[in-house]
Amino acid sequence: MRIGVVGDVHLAFDAIDVERLDALAYTAILFVGDIAGYFERGGLETARVIAQLSTPAIVIPGNHDAAHVGQMAAEVLEAEALVGLMNVGQPGRERALADALSPAVLAGYSRHRLDDGERTVDVIAARPHSAGGPRLAFRPHLAAAFGVEDFEDSRRLIEARVAESDADDLIFLAHNGPTGLGARRDDIWGCDFRDSEGDFGDPDLEYAIGDARELGKPVRAVIAGHMHHALRGGGLRPWRLERDGVLYVNAARVPRIFEQDGRTLRHHVELIVDADRVRAREVLTS
Ligand SMILES: [Fe+2]
Repeated sequence: MRIGVVGDVHLAFDAIDVERLDALAYTAILFVGDIAGYFERGGLETARVIAQLSTPAIVIPGNHDAAHVGQMAAEVLEAEALVGLMNVGQPGRERALADALSPAVLAGYSRHRLDDGERTVDVIAARPHSAGGPRLAFRPHLAAAFGVEDFEDSRRLIEARVAESDADDLIFLAHNGPTGLGARRDDIWGCDFRDSEGDFGDPDLEYAIGDARELGKPVRAVIAGHMHHALRGGGLRPWRLERDGVLYVNAARVPRIFEQDGRTLRHHVELIVDADRVRAREVLTS
């Protein structure tokens, strides 16, 4: 099975992307989120372009999605009182995003069956709106929509989706990757914007993956983004890593549409799911 992965979009997705990606005839296309920039309206316009895909698409929302600029600022500043205030209107913003994306599916704590006639793959969508690190972002929304108050609740909800799966393979889809893969600025989900560096992964995701493996579930890959490839202060982080038979992909090449040698290039990642392993390669279409 071949699956397309689109990293943090941040408004860079247009009709040419729709044509190119549909032409590649993937079984499905996974979006790791952050469709929007800093304004909800731009995100909705881009979501309506994603809706034009003929290929089935699954989108996990990022910390920029269905949010407004004050909300993102409150989350970054960890101003809890403001976070609560800014959550007003969140159900409407979620509905507007889901409507704009449809028939592409807005995911989160959900399971999505892919079937190409040869094998079945369940995509387990983890926590929506992750902003990475040790703080639970969009907490009022997670509590109201999913009953999730903390990382432990979140871990249990991801596990519930895993437990009900009987697919040949499992692929996790998240906005941000798991903890446990390195604590330096240039690690796959390492913190490059604080002098202290650190592991900026999602702990609930790491534990849910570990639990899935303990249950004997066929975890093949974990797909996420959020921590952009280009590092603050220079350099690039690795975009993939294989550990204990699981492939981890950080698809956040930002901007995903860029100029090189006078040509416009468009980035995505191709996943190839074989009987016992998943491979990934970066694809640049013009
Ligand atoms: Fe993000």
